[in-house]
Amino acid sequence: MRPKYHLTAPFGLINDPNGFIKYKNEYYLFFQWNPDGLLHENKHWGLKKTKDFINFSDVEIALEPDAWFDKDGCYSGTSRTINDKLYLIYTGNVKSNHERQSYQCVAKLENDAFVKLGPILKEIPQGYTDHFRDPFYFERDNQSYFMIGAQNKDLEGEALIYNWDVFDQPQLLGPIKFDQKLDAYMWECPNLWQAQKDVLIFSPQGIPNEKYQYQNLYHSVAAVGKLNMQDLSFKTEHLSELDNGFDFYAPQVYEKENLLIGWMGLPEKEMMHPSQKDNWLHTLTMVRTLSLNEDNELIQKPHPFYKKLRMKKINGILKEKFFFNYGEIKLDFKINRNTEINLKLFASDNYQTTLTFKNDILTLDRSQSEGLTGIRYLKLKPKESLKLQIFMDKSTLEIFVNDGEKVMSSRIYNTDSDVFFELTSIENVKLQRFDFYEFER
Ligand code: FRU
Repeated sequence: MRPKYHLTAPFGLINDPNGFIKYKNEYYLFFQWNPDGLLHENKHWGLKKTKDFINFSDVEIALEPDAWFDKDGCYSGTSRTINDKLYLIYTGNVKSNHERQSYQCVAKLENDAFVKLGPILKEIPQGYTDHFRDPFYFERDNQSYFMIGAQNKDLEGEALIYNWDVFDQPQLLGPIKFDQKLDAYMWECPNLWQAQKDVLIFSPQGIPNEKYQYQNLYHSVAAVGKLNMQDLSFKTEHLSELDNGFDFYAPQVYEKENLLIGWMGLPEKEMMHPSQKDNWLHTLTMVRTLSLNEDNELIQKPHPFYKKLRMKKINGILKEKFFFNYGEIKLDFKINRNTEINLKLFASDNYQTTLTFKNDILTLDRSQSEGLTGIRYLKLKPKESLKLQIFMDKSTLEIFVNDGEKVMSSRIYNTDSDVFFELTSIENVKLQRFDFYEFER
């Protein structure tokens, strides 16, 4: 059940990706890691290096919560280089007598070890609670900044921007004046990605569930628009949820290469994951490339590196069982108003997960899967075609819809031995492509 080309830790719990950067010809993927258990405590920064997002180095501990300023967790953050030296900025979480302190801390890579330089920001500004974390480093017009997730005293989520030259005290510029009303009590992990537009990506907590969006416990959203660095106003043109699957949160972008990776998990019903019994929990998503389409909507595609996994192409046949839970399915349909499509994924005698398309709605039903439950709906724009690119990696399912207009990321378990997928039925539709790529083992 352990994914092969997704990042996992050999034991313990992982959550947010951190410090995502390319450094000396390798990508450094850090992540939140509790190496000693499966609870959200004792957060370290784990590190795996990779050249291709498929083969990873052995896990290393980059930061452990052993200093007075981070003793209850080295929380999420990012990285930057200065004169070829790698620096991390992260939140040191300290709890005492039911109170929380949040220190923004810097560490530096020296001789293969991350040396803590300590807090550069010890205060939480007036008007904000102690939910203040996850610094994201970015540059605009040769100036260095970080933005940070915060909760104001009215218990609303915000992101604040600081001017930041690594050795100086950061200077608060102020909160981003976001023009959309989101009913969120906290924004975690704010990120910025710049293309023709500015894209503000963050993970708000508290948005009420709706039938076709915001169906999970917490959400991650992308606002495409314009961030004015003079007055910090953000004018939104498009606001959308980043992923409509069951398991996606706290993504991080690597701006220089237009990449995004998320945590394929949520802090909810974690006891239900069958991997618990093998003493590991969660994985990160595949790496996605970001772009904007002509309507300035965010497009997320699987990184081209994953094509290297393709070993053998198999032509799909309707109503035939293919015994795979590891590989990539490509389906293209010409559709109309009466189209109905049904697929079984991760199916066996005991379990199944279904993906259905009807009335412009994709429905992913894992209520009969092993361990995990639930149904997720994704409403698509009416169109004449439907394209599905489905990646399976033992216990992960990532569905890229219509060339990256939408993505659904979910964990699906089935530890039976004969696990198959099947295009079970299609009605009022023309099947234009059905291929399966078996991946290298
Ligand atoms: C998001 C988050 C961050 C925090 C980290 C702690 O999942 O809650 O806000 O820094 O996880 O592990």
